[in-house]
Amino acid sequence: METLEVINKRKSIRAYKNKQISEDELNTIIGVANKAPNAGLFQVTVIQNSEFLKEINDKTKEFMLNSEGFMRERALIPGYEPLYGAPTLIVISAPDGPFTQINVSAAATTMILAATDLNVGTCYVVSPIPILTQFKDKLNIPEGFVPISGILIGYEDECSIPSPEREIPDNINFIG
Ligand SMILES: Cc1cc2nc3c(=O)[nH]c(=O)nc-3n(C[C@H](O)[C@H](O)[C@H](O)COP(=O)(O)O)c2cc1C
Repeated sequence: METLEVINKRKSIRAYKNKQISEDELNTIIGVANKAPNAGLFQVTVIQNSEFLKEINDKTKEFMLNSEGFMRERALIPGYEPLYGAPTLIVISAPDGPFTQINVSAAATTMILAATDLNVGTCYVVSPIPILTQFKDKLNIPEGFVPISGILIGYEDECSIPSPEREIPDNINFIG
């Protein structure tokens, strides 16, 4: 796929087939994390253990139901599961620092675009982060690192969960 086609085709996938992505696909996706623009440390953790994924999903749903506003509303949608049945969750962790969020977002976006190029579905997720923070010891991440972002990865399935409406804002200006 051409790069611009990949960028325009990418969208958040909120239903996944019960089939793991191939090792080659996974290696290609995680292999580009360190090609992103970067100004600091981060760690990429791959979770494919179905029992652990279910535990993260269920605890995240419970957390969302106990919160208020958008998170709770989403969790109340019939059939809603925060990990959407994805067979792979990538967690990006980093130490606290001025550019932490930027480094993690750059790495995540680069991996997401690589996955899109392979026709592999993704969804950038922060909803499991509070639970992943509780499970920090199970993630085997370096001392001082904390989970910042998640990426769900898998083959797209038919989806009954509505995606939030995306309007293209008028947010580009030119200085003459
Ligand atoms: C920082 C960030 C956090 C997000 N967290 C979630 C999430 O927890 N769950 C989810 O379903 N989507 C999440 N998304 C995906 C956005 O909802 C999605 O990117 C946005 O609605 C635009 O839709 P699109 O990605 O299909 O273009 C997140 C996106 C970003 C950038």
